[in-house]
Amino acid sequence: MRVLVLHSHPVEESYGKALYKQTLESLREAGHEVDACDLYAENFDPVLSRHDRLAYHDYPGNTAPVKSYVERLKQAEALVLVTPIWNFGFPAILKGYFDRVWLPGVSFELVDGKVESRLRHIRKLAAVLTYGATPFRAFAAGNPPKKIVKRVLRAQINPLRPVTFLAHYDMNNCTPESRARFLEKVKTAMEQF
Ligand SMILES: Cc1cc2nc3c(=O)[nH]c(=O)nc-3n(C[C@H](O)[C@H](O)[C@H](O)COP(=O)(O)O)c2cc1C
Repeated sequence: MRVLVLHSHPVEESYGKALYKQTLESLREAGHEVDACDLYAENFDPVLSRHDRLAYHDYPGNTAPVKSYVERLKQAEALVLVTPIWNFGFPAILKGYFDRVWLPGVSFELVDGKVESRLRHIRKLAAVLTYGATPFRAFAAGNPPKKIVKRVLRAQINPLRPVTFLAHYDMNNCTPESRARFLEKVKTAMEQF
């Protein structure tokens, strides 16, 4: 499969970057064609401007400022997110990717007032997330990122397809062992993706 991997960690030496590199390596070893999209490294501009908002519904003109990202999304047969959780959401650069690239005509269309997916070409979805919070604190906060992955993105792509959700919680108290264990879990999941 052609797998689009979206990544949003600004630090090269971080554990988040190690998870990203492991994801790419394991997917490639499994024989997938990987499109590695490191949003910070690519200097992706996440701000949806006044111009973008005014043109938001005008497909295909709305795709002009992010044409290459739209093409990459259209080529994807699977999608993997590798990101830390900030303020119980995605880092702004990844949130902005969805705002600016998942446009009307690209990810969905309004047909007689109803949303129809245009992402049925994506057959699999996975997320590799790290949280500072414990599972309980994340649960108590409603765990918005988990809902975004398992409900929102899944519904937008195809509600009938399974989702692989992998999370290392409690990064504030992580150990070399817990990090190694999670890296191994990601390796196995991506090799079997
Ligand atoms: C700006 C910022 C906001 C954060 N907000 C949250 C949060 O709301 N919930 C949470 O569980 N962790 C939060 N964290 C902790 C990160 O999720 C954690 O540092 C990260 O997953 C660890 O990975 P890293 O060391 O590779 O950055 C936040 C961290 C930063 C830098």
